[in-house]
Amino acid sequence: MENIKYENGTLYLLDQTLLPNEEKYITPKTKEDYFECIKKLRVRGAPAIGIFAGYAMALLDGDKAELKKYLDTARPTAVNLSWATERMLSAYNSGKNLIDEAIAIHNEDKEMCRKISEYGLSLLHDGDGILTHCNAGALATSEYGTGLGPLLLGKEKGYTFHAYTDETRPLLQGARLTSYELEKAGVDVTLICDNMASLVMKQGKIDAVLVGTDRIAANGDIANKIGTSGVAVLAKYYNIPFYVLGPYSTIDYNCPTGDDIVIEERDSNEIKTMWYEKPIALPETKCYNPAFDVTDHELITAIITDRGIIKAPFKEGLERIRNND
Ligand code: MRU
Repeated sequence: MENIKYENGTLYLLDQTLLPNEEKYITPKTKEDYFECIKKLRVRGAPAIGIFAGYAMALLDGDKAELKKYLDTARPTAVNLSWATERMLSAYNSGKNLIDEAIAIHNEDKEMCRKISEYGLSLLHDGDGILTHCNAGALATSEYGTGLGPLLLGKEKGYTFHAYTDETRPLLQGARLTSYELEKAGVDVTLICDNMASLVMKQGKIDAVLVGTDRIAANGDIANKIGTSGVAVLAKYYNIPFYVLGPYSTIDYNCPTGDDIVIEERDSNEIKTMWYEKPIALPETKCYNPAFDVTDHELITAIITDRGIIKAPFKEGLERIRNND
Protein backbone atom coordinates (compact mmCIF):
# COMPACT_ATOMS: atom_id res chain seq x y z
CA MET A 1 0.00 0.00 0.00
CA GLU A 2 1.46 3.36 -1.06
CA ASN A 3 1.36 6.20 1.48
CA ILE A 4 1.70 9.01 -1.10
CA LYS A 5 0.31 8.72 -4.64
CA TYR A 6 0.36 11.30 -7.40
CA GLU A 7 -2.21 10.44 -10.08
CA ASN A 8 -3.65 12.61 -12.88
CA GLY A 9 -2.69 15.88 -11.21
CA THR A 10 -4.00 14.94 -7.74
CA LEU A 11 -2.01 14.01 -4.65
CA TYR A 12 -3.46 11.23 -2.49
CA LEU A 13 -2.23 10.78 1.07
CA LEU A 14 -2.93 7.71 3.19
CA ASP A 15 -4.02 9.25 6.51
CA GLN A 16 -1.71 7.57 9.04
CA THR A 17 -3.66 8.91 12.02
CA LEU A 18 -6.49 6.48 11.15
CA LEU A 19 -4.29 3.36 10.98
CA PRO A 20 -4.52 0.49 11.70
CA ASN A 21 -8.32 0.68 11.84
CA GLU A 22 -9.06 2.51 8.61
CA GLU A 23 -7.14 2.80 5.33
CA LYS A 24 -8.33 6.10 3.89
CA TYR A 25 -6.76 8.47 1.34
CA ILE A 26 -7.24 12.22 1.64
CA THR A 27 -6.50 14.93 -0.94
CA PRO A 28 -4.99 18.10 0.55
CA LYS A 29 -5.73 21.22 -1.47
CA THR A 30 -4.61 24.41 0.29
CA LYS A 31 -1.29 25.27 1.92
CA GLU A 32 -3.05 25.05 5.29
CA ASP A 33 -4.19 21.50 4.43
CA TYR A 34 -0.61 20.48 3.60
CA PHE A 35 0.71 22.10 6.77
CA GLU A 36 -1.93 20.38 8.90
CA CYS A 37 -1.18 16.96 7.36
CA ILE A 38 2.47 17.29 8.40
CA LYS A 39 1.78 18.84 11.82
CA LYS A 40 -0.88 16.30 12.79
CA LEU A 41 1.21 13.34 11.53
CA ARG A 42 -1.24 12.30 8.81
CA VAL A 43 2.05 12.00 6.95
CA ARG A 44 5.06 11.29 9.14
CA GLY A 45 8.50 9.73 9.08
CA ALA A 46 11.33 11.96 7.90
CA PRO A 47 11.64 10.87 4.22
CA ALA A 48 7.84 10.73 3.70
CA ILE A 49 7.50 14.28 5.04
CA GLY A 50 10.17 15.37 2.52
CA ILE A 51 8.37 13.65 -0.38
CA PHE A 52 5.04 15.16 0.62
CA ALA A 53 6.53 18.65 0.98
CA GLY A 54 8.10 18.27 -2.49
CA TYR A 55 4.64 17.73 -3.99
CA ALA A 56 3.25 20.63 -1.93
CA MET A 57 5.90 22.95 -3.37
CA ALA A 58 5.03 21.76 -6.90
CA LEU A 59 1.24 21.81 -6.64
CA LEU A 60 0.56 24.96 -4.61
CA ASP A 61 0.50 28.37 -6.32
CA GLY A 62 1.98 31.51 -4.83
CA ASP A 63 5.36 32.72 -3.61
CA LYS A 64 7.49 29.57 -3.39
CA ALA A 65 10.06 31.07 -0.99
CA GLU A 66 7.25 32.02 1.43
CA LEU A 67 5.69 28.59 1.02
CA LYS A 68 8.99 26.89 1.86
CA LYS A 69 9.34 29.02 5.02
CA TYR A 70 5.78 28.19 6.06
CA LEU A 71 6.03 24.43 5.52
CA ASP A 72 9.44 24.16 7.22
CA THR A 73 7.92 25.27 10.52
CA ALA A 74 5.40 22.38 10.58
CA ARG A 75 7.98 19.99 12.06
CA PRO A 76 11.45 21.31 12.88
CA THR A 77 13.46 18.16 13.68
CA ALA A 78 13.27 16.13 10.45
CA VAL A 79 15.89 17.66 8.17
CA ASN A 80 14.32 16.00 5.11
CA LEU A 81 11.51 18.57 5.21
CA SER A 82 13.74 21.63 4.72
CA TRP A 83 16.06 19.61 2.46
CA ALA A 84 13.16 18.84 0.08
CA THR A 85 11.66 22.36 0.12
CA GLU A 86 15.13 23.81 -0.51
CA ARG A 87 15.66 21.49 -3.46
CA MET A 88 12.23 22.43 -4.86
CA LEU A 89 12.95 26.15 -4.42
CA SER A 90 16.25 25.85 -6.33
CA ALA A 91 14.43 23.87 -9.05
CA TYR A 92 11.85 26.68 -9.27
CA ASN A 93 14.54 29.37 -9.41
CA SER A 94 16.30 27.57 -12.23
CA GLY A 95 13.08 27.13 -14.23
CA LYS A 96 12.76 23.35 -13.90
CA ASN A 97 9.41 21.54 -14.09
CA LEU A 98 8.39 21.27 -10.44
CA ILE A 99 6.19 18.22 -10.66
CA ASP A 100 9.01 16.33 -12.40
CA GLU A 101 11.32 17.38 -9.55
CA ALA A 102 8.83 16.19 -6.89
CA ILE A 103 8.43 12.85 -8.68
CA ALA A 104 12.25 12.61 -8.86
CA ILE A 105 12.51 13.08 -5.05
CA HIS A 106 9.88 10.36 -4.63
CA ASN A 107 11.60 7.91 -7.00
CA GLU A 108 15.06 8.60 -5.60
CA ASP A 109 13.75 7.76 -2.13
CA LYS A 110 12.61 4.35 -3.38
CA GLU A 111 16.09 3.73 -4.76
CA MET A 112 17.74 4.91 -1.51
CA CYS A 113 15.49 2.72 0.65
CA ARG A 114 16.28 -0.29 -1.49
CA LYS A 115 20.04 0.26 -1.07
CA ILE A 116 19.75 0.92 2.68
CA SER A 117 17.71 -2.27 3.06
CA GLU A 118 20.32 -4.30 1.15
CA TYR A 119 23.17 -2.91 3.29
CA GLY A 120 21.17 -3.46 6.48
CA LEU A 121 20.30 -7.02 5.51
CA SER A 122 23.99 -7.80 5.01
CA LEU A 123 24.51 -7.22 8.76
CA LEU A 124 21.74 -9.62 9.89
CA HIS A 125 21.37 -13.39 10.05
CA ASP A 126 18.41 -15.59 9.23
CA GLY A 127 16.40 -16.20 12.42
CA ASP A 128 17.57 -13.02 14.20
CA GLY A 129 15.40 -11.30 16.79
CA ILE A 130 15.13 -7.60 15.96
CA LEU A 131 13.95 -4.77 18.20
CA THR A 132 12.38 -1.73 16.49
CA HIS A 133 11.31 1.66 17.84
CA CYS A 134 8.74 4.02 16.29
CA ASN A 135 8.00 3.37 12.60
CA ALA A 136 10.63 3.52 9.88
CA GLY A 137 8.94 1.37 7.25
CA ALA A 138 7.32 2.07 3.90
CA LEU A 139 4.77 4.33 5.62
CA ALA A 140 7.59 6.59 6.80
CA THR A 141 9.34 6.66 3.41
CA SER A 142 8.34 5.49 -0.07
CA GLU A 143 9.06 1.75 -0.24
CA TYR A 144 10.64 -0.76 2.20
CA GLY A 145 11.62 2.00 4.62
CA THR A 146 14.90 2.49 6.45
CA GLY A 147 14.80 0.85 9.91
CA LEU A 148 12.26 -1.76 8.75
CA GLY A 149 13.78 -2.11 5.28
CA PRO A 150 15.99 -5.12 6.07
CA LEU A 151 12.99 -6.95 7.60
CA LEU A 152 10.69 -6.27 4.64
CA LEU A 153 13.34 -6.97 2.00
CA GLY A 154 14.54 -9.99 3.99
CA LYS A 155 11.01 -11.40 4.02
CA GLU A 156 10.90 -11.17 0.23
CA LYS A 157 14.23 -12.99 0.05
CA GLY A 158 13.07 -15.81 2.31
CA TYR A 159 14.65 -14.76 5.63
CA THR A 160 12.75 -15.42 8.86
CA PHE A 161 13.11 -12.65 11.42
CA HIS A 162 11.38 -12.24 14.78
CA ALA A 163 10.55 -8.58 15.27
CA TYR A 164 9.82 -7.06 18.68
CA THR A 165 8.16 -3.68 18.26
CA ASP A 166 8.15 -1.03 20.98
CA GLU A 167 4.68 0.52 21.09
CA THR A 168 6.37 3.98 21.14
CA ARG A 169 4.57 6.26 23.56
CA PRO A 170 2.91 8.68 23.29
CA LEU A 171 1.76 8.51 19.65
CA LEU A 172 2.10 4.73 19.35
CA GLN A 173 3.72 4.58 15.91
CA GLY A 174 5.18 1.17 16.83
CA ALA A 175 1.80 -0.29 17.78
CA ARG A 176 -0.36 1.41 15.19
CA LEU A 177 2.01 1.43 12.23
CA THR A 178 5.00 -0.92 12.60
CA SER A 179 3.06 -3.95 13.79
CA TYR A 180 0.45 -3.22 11.08
CA GLU A 181 3.10 -3.03 8.34
CA LEU A 182 4.97 -6.13 9.48
CA GLU A 183 1.76 -8.16 9.90
CA LYS A 184 0.68 -7.21 6.39
CA ALA A 185 4.08 -8.23 5.01
CA GLY A 186 3.95 -11.56 6.85
CA VAL A 187 6.92 -10.82 9.15
CA ASP A 188 6.68 -12.43 12.60
CA VAL A 189 6.06 -9.49 14.96
CA THR A 190 5.41 -9.18 18.69
CA LEU A 191 4.25 -5.87 20.13
CA ILE A 192 5.79 -4.86 23.46
CA CYS A 193 5.47 -1.88 25.80
CA ASP A 194 8.41 0.51 25.59
CA ASN A 195 9.48 -0.39 29.11
CA MET A 196 9.83 -4.08 28.16
CA ALA A 197 12.80 -3.54 25.84
CA SER A 198 15.22 -4.27 28.66
CA LEU A 199 13.54 -7.58 29.52
CA VAL A 200 13.51 -8.98 25.96
CA MET A 201 17.19 -8.05 25.64
CA LYS A 202 18.03 -9.73 28.94
CA GLN A 203 16.10 -12.84 27.84
CA GLY A 204 18.34 -13.11 24.76
CA LYS A 205 15.52 -12.49 22.30
CA ILE A 206 17.22 -9.57 20.55
CA ASP A 207 20.20 -9.87 18.17
CA ALA A 208 20.09 -6.34 16.78
CA VAL A 209 18.21 -3.06 17.15
CA LEU A 210 17.13 -1.26 13.96
CA VAL A 211 15.91 2.35 14.02
CA GLY A 212 15.41 5.16 11.51
CA THR A 213 16.46 8.75 12.09
CA ASP A 214 15.22 12.29 11.52
CA ARG A 215 18.59 14.03 11.51
CA ILE A 216 22.20 12.84 11.61
CA ALA A 217 24.66 15.44 12.96
CA ALA A 218 28.14 15.72 11.43
CA ASN A 219 29.68 13.86 14.40
CA GLY A 220 27.24 10.91 14.11
CA ASP A 221 24.82 11.85 16.91
CA ILE A 222 21.27 11.22 15.72
CA ALA A 223 17.77 12.46 16.52
CA ASN A 224 14.98 9.90 16.46
CA LYS A 225 11.64 9.32 18.15
CA ILE A 226 11.62 9.89 21.90
CA GLY A 227 12.83 6.77 23.69
CA THR A 228 15.43 5.81 21.09
CA SER A 229 18.41 6.85 23.21
CA GLY A 230 17.15 4.73 26.12
CA VAL A 231 17.00 1.70 23.83
CA ALA A 232 20.57 2.48 22.67
CA VAL A 233 21.83 2.60 26.27
CA LEU A 234 20.22 -0.79 26.93
CA ALA A 235 21.68 -2.26 23.73
CA LYS A 236 25.15 -1.11 24.77
CA TYR A 237 24.69 -2.69 28.22
CA TYR A 238 23.59 -6.02 26.73
CA ASN A 239 26.20 -5.89 23.96
CA ILE A 240 23.62 -5.88 21.18
CA PRO A 241 24.39 -4.01 17.93
CA PHE A 242 22.43 -0.78 17.58
CA TYR A 243 21.99 0.16 13.91
CA VAL A 244 20.70 3.50 12.62
CA LEU A 245 19.39 3.51 9.05
CA GLY A 246 18.71 6.62 6.99
CA PRO A 247 19.23 8.18 3.56
CA TYR A 248 22.06 10.57 2.73
CA SER A 249 19.51 13.43 2.78
CA THR A 250 19.10 12.92 6.55
CA ILE A 251 22.72 13.91 7.24
CA ASP A 252 22.97 17.55 8.27
CA TYR A 253 26.58 18.60 7.77
CA ASN A 254 25.69 22.09 9.05
CA CYS A 255 24.79 20.60 12.42
CA PRO A 256 28.05 19.81 14.26
CA THR A 257 26.63 17.68 17.10
CA GLY A 258 23.36 16.37 18.52
CA ASP A 259 23.24 19.37 20.88
CA ASP A 260 22.60 21.57 17.84
CA ILE A 261 19.49 19.65 16.74
CA VAL A 262 16.20 21.48 17.36
CA ILE A 263 13.83 19.14 19.16
CA GLU A 264 10.13 19.50 18.45
CA GLU A 265 7.85 19.82 21.50
CA ARG A 266 4.27 18.69 21.13
CA ASP A 267 0.93 19.16 22.83
CA SER A 268 0.51 17.66 26.29
CA ASN A 269 -2.84 16.16 25.29
CA GLU A 270 -0.98 13.58 23.25
CA ILE A 271 0.15 12.17 26.61
CA LYS A 272 -2.96 12.79 28.69
CA THR A 273 -6.05 12.37 26.55
CA MET A 274 -5.47 11.34 22.97
CA TRP A 275 -5.72 7.56 23.21
CA TYR A 276 -7.97 7.22 26.25
CA GLU A 277 -11.70 7.24 26.86
CA LYS A 278 -11.06 9.48 29.85
CA PRO A 279 -8.04 11.71 30.61
CA ILE A 280 -5.28 9.88 32.48
CA ALA A 281 -4.11 12.96 34.40
CA LEU A 282 -5.65 16.15 35.73
CA PRO A 283 -6.00 19.04 33.26
CA GLU A 284 -3.64 21.15 35.40
CA THR A 285 -0.90 18.50 35.51
CA LYS A 286 2.13 19.75 33.59
CA CYS A 287 3.53 17.56 30.81
CA TYR A 288 6.84 17.62 29.01
CA ASN A 289 6.36 16.13 25.54
CA PRO A 290 9.47 16.34 23.33
CA ALA A 291 8.85 14.31 20.15
CA PHE A 292 12.47 13.23 19.72
CA ASP A 293 15.62 12.60 21.67
CA VAL A 294 19.27 12.53 20.68
CA THR A 295 21.34 9.35 20.69
CA ASP A 296 25.03 9.88 21.28
CA HIS A 297 27.23 8.45 18.50
CA GLU A 298 29.15 6.41 21.11
CA LEU A 299 26.05 4.24 21.53
CA ILE A 300 25.72 3.54 17.79
CA THR A 301 27.30 0.45 16.21
CA ALA A 302 26.83 1.61 12.61
CA ILE A 303 24.98 4.19 10.52
CA ILE A 304 23.61 2.60 7.36
CA THR A 305 22.98 4.96 4.45
CA ASP A 306 22.37 4.45 0.76
CA ARG A 307 26.06 5.35 0.34
CA GLY A 308 27.27 2.52 2.53
CA ILE A 309 27.79 1.36 6.11
CA ILE A 310 29.62 3.79 8.40
CA LYS A 311 31.28 2.75 11.65
CA ALA A 312 33.29 4.78 14.18
CA PRO A 313 34.93 7.23 13.80
CA PHE A 314 31.64 8.58 12.46
CA LYS A 315 32.76 12.15 11.73
CA GLU A 316 35.39 10.90 9.29
CA GLY A 317 33.05 8.28 7.81
CA LEU A 318 30.26 10.80 7.21
CA GLU A 319 32.76 13.22 5.67
CA ARG A 320 34.01 10.47 3.35
CA ILE A 321 30.57 9.84 1.83
CA ARG A 322 30.00 13.60 1.48
CA ASN A 323 32.86 13.68 -0.96
CA ASN A 324 30.90 11.32 -3.25
CA ASP A 325 28.75 14.33 -4.27
O1 MRU B 1 7.15 11.67 14.76
P1 MRU B 1 7.35 10.71 13.65
O2 MRU B 1 6.34 9.62 13.64
O3 MRU B 1 7.46 11.41 12.30
O4 MRU B 1 8.76 10.06 13.95
C1 MRU B 1 9.34 9.23 13.02
C2 MRU B 1 10.58 8.61 13.46
O5 MRU B 1 11.08 8.81 14.53
C3 MRU B 1 11.22 7.73 12.47
O6 MRU B 1 11.97 6.74 13.08
C4 MRU B 1 12.14 8.61 11.60
O7 MRU B 1 11.42 9.66 11.02
C5 MRU B 1 12.75 7.84 10.54
S1 MRU B 1 11.57 7.44 9.33
C6 MRU B 1 12.27 6.49 8.16
